[in-house]
Amino acid sequence: QAAWQVLAKGGSALDAVEAGARWAEGDLCNSTVGRCGNPDRDGVLTLDASIMDGDGRCGSVAALQDIVHPVSVARRVMEKTPHVMLVGEGAQQFAVEQGFAKEKLLTPEAEKAWREWLKTAKYQPQINAERAKLPGNKENHDTLGMLALDASGKLAGACTTSGMAWKMHGRVGDSPIVGAGLYVDNEVGGATASGVGEEMIRNAASFLVVELMRQGRSPADACREAIDRVVRKRPQASKTLQVCFLALNKDGEVGAFALHKG
Ligand code: GLY
Repeated sequence: QAAWQVLAKGGSALDAVEAGARWAEGDLCNSTVGRCGNPDRDGVLTLDASIMDGDGRCGSVAALQDIVHPVSVARRVMEKTPHVMLVGEGAQQFAVEQGFAKEKLLTPEAEKAWREWLKTAKYQPQINAERAKLPGNKENHDTLGMLALDASGKLAGACTTSGMAWKMHGRVGDSPIVGAGLYVDNEVGGATASGVGEEMIRNAASFLVVELMRQGRSPADACREAIDRVVRKRPQASKTLQVCFLALNKDGEVGAFALHKG
């Protein structure tokens, strides 16, 4: 809805996806995006995000601490620097220089969940639908990916996450990696991903979805083929991990596919 309000007023796809992602980072308050995300195995909340328009302009941040809106920092990287990606301390320094406020982000709920996890300290990502069946269990990964097509026919996408809960400190997933968690091309369409990021990185998966659409596949077929690629590469691992894609082509047709239900 936050994104749609921008599009409904004739705003750009880029402004729309930023607005939508910002809402998830600040207000949605789930355990996998932005302010309320779960921390890494050392109890540190680090955020990853990317933004891209259909002309190939893109920006991203990874392992960003104590800044609520990584997607907006990613946009500043795109618009104000000669670079595409800033990480860690450098990303935070840039954000502060750009006027973003630093604030301690770990919520009491996230800290409690981390302390509970420390009792076993076993890193074992679970498929969210399976995990949701267990009492008291929250999702441990569920990235927000968003694609938009505006009235002028331009595409844009954004992807934002706190990454896998209990990841190693310094681990970066697919969401800030252009081509893995997000890819957009005005000539074809866009794709974004959610799930265990390592699989998206191994397969340059969002780029793959867009290239499959370029070859004539529908968005849904392209997403399904990308899932098949993940499975073919790691058939055994694929039984216990979740990977999902969303795609939108330049004609406004949408599609999605997930490896597992939920
Ligand atoms: N898809 C989010 C991550 O793996 O970090």
